[in-house]
Amino acid sequence: MSYTLAEFINKCRFSLTDCLNEQGQDEVLKLVKSVIFDKKLISECFPMGVSDERRVLFEDPELGFCVCSHVYENKKGFPHDHGPTWAIYGQVSGNTEMMDWERVGAQGSDGSFNAKMSRNYTLRPGDVYLYRVGDIHSASCSALSEVIRIEGENTDKIKRSVINVFQ
Ligand SMILES: [Fe+2]
Repeated sequence: MSYTLAEFINKCRFSLTDCLNEQGQDEVLKLVKSVIFDKKLISECFPMGVSDERRVLFEDPELGFCVCSHVYENKKGFPHDHGPTWAIYGQVSGNTEMMDWERVGAQGSDGSFNAKMSRNYTLRPGDVYLYRVGDIHSASCSALSEVIRIEGENTDKIKRSVINVFQ
């Protein structure tokens, strides 16, 4: 089945009646996996000639979830969480060098904490990953990389944890 962006958003909304419900997040993960090569949807999300690093294509006024497109080139990412929310990363083209991180030790009085890298892997076209609330990761790429992202709420507006790299 092929989707327009509006149809895809409706399917997400149907699954995400509560954005913190992990079952709903899993359903959206499956949905993104099923559409990651959908030419109609992807051409709507990544129009020719548009290379903004981040575009919020849709933000749900009631539930708060967002559909975003990201176009990165030679980007070095640092470990981060998604504050109170989660994010699904779907690799459309190019590769993302991804690292997962885990907390080390106690949280500082300012709320910051240390983290060490626990896993590294490559997201290739068609790969889709869900990062739950509290998961820490970093994303880098050495060439052009197009990623569709679904966020439980708009991460432009959230407060993220301060994370120090544990040596
Ligand atoms: Fe992230």
